[in-house]
Amino acid sequence: MSEDDARRRDAEDPGHRALFLVPPAQGGRYQECAYFAGNSLGLQPRAAKEALLGDLDDWATLAVEGHVEARRPWTAYHSLLTGPAARLVGALPEETVVMNTLTVNLHLLMVSFYRPRGERTRILVEESAFPSDSYAVRSQARYHGLDPDVEVIRTADPLGHLAAEGDKVALVLLGGVNYLTGEVLDIPGITRAGHAAGAKVGWDLAHAAGNIPLELHEWGPDFAAWCSYKYLNSGPGALGGVFVHQRHLDDPSIQRFEGWWSTEPETRFLMEPIATPPKSADAWQISNPPIFAMSPIRVSLELFDSIGMPALRARSLRLTAYLEGLLGEHTVVTPREPERRGCQLSLRVPDADGLSRRLSRKHGVIADSRNPDILRLAPTPLYSTYHDCWRAAEALRAEL
Ligand SMILES: Cc1ncc(COP(=O)(O)O)c(C=O)c1O
Repeated sequence: MSEDDARRRDAEDPGHRALFLVPPAQGGRYQECAYFAGNSLGLQPRAAKEALLGDLDDWATLAVEGHVEARRPWTAYHSLLTGPAARLVGALPEETVVMNTLTVNLHLLMVSFYRPRGERTRILVEESAFPSDSYAVRSQARYHGLDPDVEVIRTADPLGHLAAEGDKVALVLLGGVNYLTGEVLDIPGITRAGHAAGAKVGWDLAHAAGNIPLELHEWGPDFAAWCSYKYLNSGPGALGGVFVHQRHLDDPSIQRFEGWWSTEPETRFLMEPIATPPKSADAWQISNPPIFAMSPIRVSLELFDSIGMPALRARSLRLTAYLEGLLGEHTVVTPREPERRGCQLSLRVPDADGLSRRLSRKHGVIADSRNPDILRLAPTPLYSTYHDCWRAAEALRAEL
């Protein structure tokens, strides 16, 4: 397939690259880099800076009055993110809140949903769980006075483990899209199996949010959490999102770590320890949220809202299939069936770190590597192009 063919496809199926700032290439013959690391850190939407400067201006001109007088009053700013975040993951607005960062949120959700009792003490995670999730679940087991080497079960077959020893599982916590292989797990099926076994089920959707369509309310997990710096393009360390299923929102017995933002706004300043948690995921908030961290998320979620996940998924399927076709001779460890993957393709290569460096320095192709032998390429439907895919394939041909 030729460069002309890639250009022709871009003309027919242009995506939304113009809305983003694409970094210059460090090497090769093209001005802009071919960016495939949106599964790690998404590109900056052009509108982010203005949004952030606008919020900074409110601070300059209003100072403390900004809590109520800002053009987007700070006391309610987080609620501007709730609707679009909920639509993105197929949740009800009351099931959704944007707050903190991902691992912090997983901990707060495990406070509520990992309640080991009697024989039911185990946490099931995937074989190749993301390191932060491993640390989180192991420390949760220790926090309950349990031995993480016994209680944390890493498995490549969660359904098999649930069928065999589900009565010992307190919590199933898996990545909806595996960070290493790009495989999409059967979120509704595993959720059903976890519940049938009597366990709670939560999902780490870091690699799923903004990548694949999600229907969290319908699929029914107890909770989910995701970050906004990957496919959601909201900047390094951006705040994450949280989903708590509706059936838990009005449960007075649920355990939570609380602060003044866990309670209804009217009771926030009562000087007695009276907590009236809202019947929404807002009850999982603790502190007053960082306004300037929310400006880029607002811009980014508006983009997802206006374009819509169905259109993005459709373009993602076309782009990823095109890249897969170009990578014919390489070993792709990502599932071949489009419905079992998002946009990421993971390749098994020799010296992944060195290759990733050469791709960037010599060809302006930004991929990322997971030692020792995985190279990850994520053509994201918002800003990646067919020409980017063609460049990646050419660069790999030259380097391997
Ligand atoms: C699957 C997954 N889980 C957890 C994390 C950790 O996220 P954070 O640093 O926001 O807690 C990441 C970060 O890339 C991730 O990919």
